[in-house]
Amino acid sequence: MSANADPAQRIAALREQIRRHDHLYYVEARPEVSDAEYDALMHELRELEARHPELVTPDSPTRRVAGQVAEAFVPVQHKVAMLSLDNATTDDQLREFEARLRRALPGAAFDYVCEPKIDGLGVALLYQEGRFVRGATRGDGRVGEDITRNLLTIRSIPRTLGAPLAAVRELEVRGEVFMPRQKFHELNRQLEEAGEPTFANPRNAAAGAVRQKDPQVTARRPLDILLYHVSTGDEALVTTHWEMLEALRASGLPTSPRAARAPDIEAVVAYCARLEAERDALPYEADGAVVKVNSLEQQRRLGATAHHPRWAIAFKFAARQATTVVRAITVNVGKTGVLTPGAQLEPVELAGVVIRNVSLHNEDEVRRKDIRVGDTVLIERAGDVIPYVVKVIESRRPPDAVPWEFPTRCPACQSVAFRPQGEAYWRCTNSACPAQLKERLLHWGSRRAMDIEHLGESVVNQLVDRGLVHDFADLYALDVAQLVDLERLGPKSARNLADAIAGSRTRGLSRLLNALGIRLVGERAAQLLALRFGTIDALAAATEEEIGEIHGIGPQIAQSVARFFAEPENRKIIERLRDAGVVMVEATVPSGPRPLAGKTFVLTGTLVTLSRDAAAELIHRRGGQVVGSVSKKTSYVVVGDNPGSKAEDATRLGVATLDEAAFLKLLGQTE
Ligand code: IVH
Repeated sequence: MSANADPAQRIAALREQIRRHDHLYYVEARPEVSDAEYDALMHELRELEARHPELVTPDSPTRRVAGQVAEAFVPVQHKVAMLSLDNATTDDQLREFEARLRRALPGAAFDYVCEPKIDGLGVALLYQEGRFVRGATRGDGRVGEDITRNLLTIRSIPRTLGAPLAAVRELEVRGEVFMPRQKFHELNRQLEEAGEPTFANPRNAAAGAVRQKDPQVTARRPLDILLYHVSTGDEALVTTHWEMLEALRASGLPTSPRAARAPDIEAVVAYCARLEAERDALPYEADGAVVKVNSLEQQRRLGATAHHPRWAIAFKFAARQATTVVRAITVNVGKTGVLTPGAQLEPVELAGVVIRNVSLHNEDEVRRKDIRVGDTVLIERAGDVIPYVVKVIESRRPPDAVPWEFPTRCPACQSVAFRPQGEAYWRCTNSACPAQLKERLLHWGSRRAMDIEHLGESVVNQLVDRGLVHDFADLYALDVAQLVDLERLGPKSARNLADAIAGSRTRGLSRLLNALGIRLVGERAAQLLALRFGTIDALAAATEEEIGEIHGIGPQIAQSVARFFAEPENRKIIERLRDAGVVMVEATVPSGPRPLAGKTFVLTGTLVTLSRDAAAELIHRRGGQVVGSVSKKTSYVVVGDNPGSKAEDATRLGVATLDEAAFLKLLGQTE
């Protein structure tokens, strides 16, 4: 806010904005701002109201719990208000939480229970004498909506309870309805195939499903629930939150398997750090951890403010969504001439990394999302997913923003660009396009290809721009004197680069095949080809059919490889590389038995004794294959430290998993 703006006006504007965002979030389930931005608005409003108490009104968003009741569902008055939670974002704020507890209950000792904070929808389930009678949304915290019929479609909600809670006359349990991440991706895939709009995230998908007017639609949406709190019931049954969780579980109500006791606040801090590090391995989206004082007696004595209980706090993970402005849309030229649009962004921090640009993938993607220069966009960076634009915030579009048009000329060489029919990508038509050559050379020198250290962007740009290199083979004719001449390359670096180039001659066939940049041939296909044919001459002489017979090489790859070797230009380059002394046979072709033939492996997490490349190499040598994702056909998933979601995929699909010791044993047995 500008320093001299009228506080009354600013307060009114903030309230208006917050109400609008509340409505979008709670009622329409399509938020337009990130949590952090919402919090910033709320923070500004609280501060202004603190400085101008005369301007505080009872209906200010700061005076109530956010949310609103939609019509059409029967309102439900919550017996105990469904409050929100106070937040901590740093370890020290967790320690301050404990300091507050100590001040409130001097002399008391505290222990805690920590749980994932699931990013779903809070609900309240009512059981009378063990029978499920009603389920309600949170609504505004005091009045929610009766969504019993929709909740009845969730299989994990028991209709009747077992002991010990079956006998409780009236039990209200709270928990979170959510859509498991995997199921969310499947649902979006189906919606996309059906040509229907997809959901931006699992939370929105779950919110939409829970508030369906037709429970049959809800039934087709894969929802799940975890319970974490009892608001009314016979508390005399148990004395701690932990025992309550055990009682819920024993009675048939699902609770989080990740809930854990923490004897002191430092154990809480450690739990929060661990959960944040592992958040992508959780089967649902979690936006933090919830920390609760374990003793129910202490909870009662601590009580609550108008907004939140004093005995609990939410530790928020670093935000993964943020909004920012598109400064420009530029087009990048890839090594095969594919033109990829990308958004240059107003730099914004997301989950600890500053994001300046994101790929927009292709023309259709830009059209579908209607991304324009000047637009405010919601971007997300989740786990191993590269940052992407979730959507445009249309309400913040500048009036003069115009739809983006794909350029019809290559931005690097100005040649005509075209988009072949049926393909998603525009291409530059000029095979001598310097931008393509630069990308190809960078790929040639990359770690998994010919592994030429020091052959970075600046060197490659100069080599191409000065006309010193026109193809891969030219690299091997460079001498130190030419390299010393390049900018930002001293005599020592020039010598190192010359050595690295010379050393790359003996990388072997599979790296060479990867380095050549044959369309559709990446590291894995290159390994399979090298294993089967052993020399480049044998591969060049093979027919498309022979190539396609390799397990793991599809017809499209086979066609692309055959076409590559049929091209006289490519043959010429290979001869020139051979003359330059580049080795064209595979050094590691196993001649012995192939005990792992037909077996496929997926590697996830870090192995202590082997790099991922070394593990893959050992599998390949024994005739096995390494693939990127788990399917029912996968033979083994090798699970190292900090595994990703692939470990869960294995369990879900019933695929055998191997820890490092078991994996090494299998390799040992098959040596
Ligand atoms: S405890 C009085 N535990 O977070 C009990 N809440 O920002 C207060 N949430 O409205 C809730 N996971 O919808 C609690 N393990 C968990 C939770 C959790 C998610 C949600 C809940 C609540 C919101 C507060």
